[in-house]
Amino acid sequence: MEKLRFGLVLMVLCLSTSLVKGGDPTVTFEWKVTYGTISPLGVPQQVILINDKFPGPVINGTSNNNIVVNVFNQLDEPFLFTWNGIQQRKNSWQEGTLGTNCPIPPGGNFTYHFQVKDQIGTFFYYPTTALHRAAGGYGGLSVHSRALIPIPFDINPADEFFVLVSDWYTKSHTQLRKFLDSGRSMGRPDGVIINGKGGNGDGKDEPMFSMTPGKTYRYRFCNAGNKDSINVRIQGHTMKLVEIEGSHVVQNMYDSLDIHLGQCVSVLVTADKDPKDYLLVASTRFTKEPHTATSIIRYTNGKGPASPELPKAPIGWAWSLNQFRSFRWNLTASAARPNPQGSYHYGQINITRTIKLVNTAGTVDGKLRYAFNGISHVNPTTPIKLAEYYGVEDKVFKYDLMKDEYEPPAGKAEEKITLAPNVVKVIYRNYVEIIFENHEKSVQSFHLAGYSFFAVAIEPGKWTPEKRKNYNLLDAVSRNTIQVYPNSWAAIMTTLDNAGLWNLRSNSLERQYLGQQLYFSALSPKRDLKDEYNMPDNDVLCGIIKDMPLPKPYSV
Ligand SMILES: *[C@@H]1O[C@H](CO)[C@@H](O)[C@H](O)[C@H]1NC(C)=O
Ligand SMILES: *[C@@H]1O[C@H](CO)[C@@H](O)[C@H](O)[C@H]1NC(C)=O
Ligand SMILES: *[C@@H]1O[C@H](CO)[C@@H](O)[C@H](O)[C@H]1NC(C)=O
Ligand SMILES: *[C@@H]1O[C@H](CO)[C@@H](O)[C@H](O)[C@H]1NC(C)=O
Repeated sequence: MEKLRFGLVLMVLCLSTSLVKGGDPTVTFEWKVTYGTISPLGVPQQVILINDKFPGPVINGTSNNNIVVNVFNQLDEPFLFTWNGIQQRKNSWQEGTLGTNCPIPPGGNFTYHFQVKDQIGTFFYYPTTALHRAAGGYGGLSVHSRALIPIPFDINPADEFFVLVSDWYTKSHTQLRKFLDSGRSMGRPDGVIINGKGGNGDGKDEPMFSMTPGKTYRYRFCNAGNKDSINVRIQGHTMKLVEIEGSHVVQNMYDSLDIHLGQCVSVLVTADKDPKDYLLVASTRFTKEPHTATSIIRYTNGKGPASPELPKAPIGWAWSLNQFRSFRWNLTASAARPNPQGSYHYGQINITRTIKLVNTAGTVDGKLRYAFNGISHVNPTTPIKLAEYYGVEDKVFKYDLMKDEYEPPAGKAEEKITLAPNVVKVIYRNYVEIIFENHEKSVQSFHLAGYSFFAVAIEPGKWTPEKRKNYNLLDAVSRNTIQVYPNSWAAIMTTLDNAGLWNLRSNSLERQYLGQQLYFSALSPKRDLKDEYNMPDNDVLCGIIKDMPLPKPYSV
């Protein structure tokens, strides 16, 4: 007992010194998560608020900042946040998915502690429990370069704005969940919102953004939605793309940008047009009847309303694929560190494993399910990460039920879908290639937690090893989400150099909820504290490990 307590104290000490790095400032938040009634689409409905606001507060950080967020769950259900795109180095304890964490019970609180280590860029956070994201509870998270690291812009932006766009349902998340739990689909969203508001271009909304003539602003866009890709554009203005999900990119000008589910980009916009109002337009893509929302950008010396004529959205996905191909890593620009991004030659590393994931839809006992390679993930009541830490994984799940390759049955034959925790064991520090093959008619979007990856190709058709000759092995963008067009494939490459348990998921809320996700388990072979932190002492415990004695901690 005494020994155990001593171990505990040691563990706490290690944790606090390793997490709060000397000299790196700490940014602290206290968040109250509640339900509230607001009307994003003009219809009053239940929305998840953070400190009485939707969207929640922007976390405005700088590389290597320590972020501390004490979350008070005042909902009537268990709750978790994830920090989409933050790599949580050695620290999947803070990932906030149901595979890594026990949810915060109603009335309880939990303090996330994490460092935005060696990252810059545009990210967002959102709830991962139940179907809470459909009710809001999301917000922006930006990470600025440290003062000494050069930024690849000629002009320092006068200000910056977060623009969280999403499709939106007027039904509550509990109603939507009832549909999914009873085997049906969530159906189509009812509209689109920009920062929680569904402006309709009638010029009567309050301006959302303000620009001083002659100045340049950074707009950070993320698609925090549930189902649809969204195109964004600004009347009369072009956008200079500067960053995608943590990478500085070659700065091309765009009239509009497709932002697929879960994706973030940032652009520079210069206020150099006639002084009046302009509309920022967000509309759904690849849907029969697109939904559109607008918000007003006002010039500070503005004289007059915005034109009612909205710039048109592009049509079809070939346009979108071409746009993807125009995105290039700026090899000479720095990101979070002083060395140029291009000094990492990802194209010269040998692949040690190829995992091909086919997204599928089907039914199990008459209920709609989604899967990767025939496995539809279910979360065990004991989180996978905790089961591994306590050494009781064989009581909770089985590793490697899923094969690295898969061919769904041809024609009308029904696919056999297995419901089980989908946990793939990977070797820490391996360099892997992941192929997403989409045989469906809809555009998909996938996110990998814990790493950024090189998005080396998207092409129509099926993937074969010969397609590797088409990969961009020079200046593909390092990012954390990728879209896959209908009957197409996408390839990503990454080094699994972050020990922990990491979620790979469909960004479609419905697909994610109904099983299209998996976890990569990259364990430190020797439970080495240099590879991975110990479970934090404030971690919420649940399931079979709840009352078990603490296991031997990781050590140096
Ligand atoms: C966010 O942080 C940056 C860099 O520290 C700063 O320039 C900017 O004013 C901050 N923005 C807000 C809204 O606090
Ligand atoms: C809950 O909040 C209290 C008060 O701020 C804090 O002392 C405590 O550490 C928090 N609990 C957890 C599990 O983070
Ligand atoms: C790439 O980054 C460099 C270095 O910061 C910058 O000078 C250059 O303008 C950028 N190039 C493009 C094409 O965006
Ligand atoms: C990659 O593999 C090739 C062929 O097997 C080998 O010649 C080469 O040395 C390897 N490169 C690295 C960096 O390991």
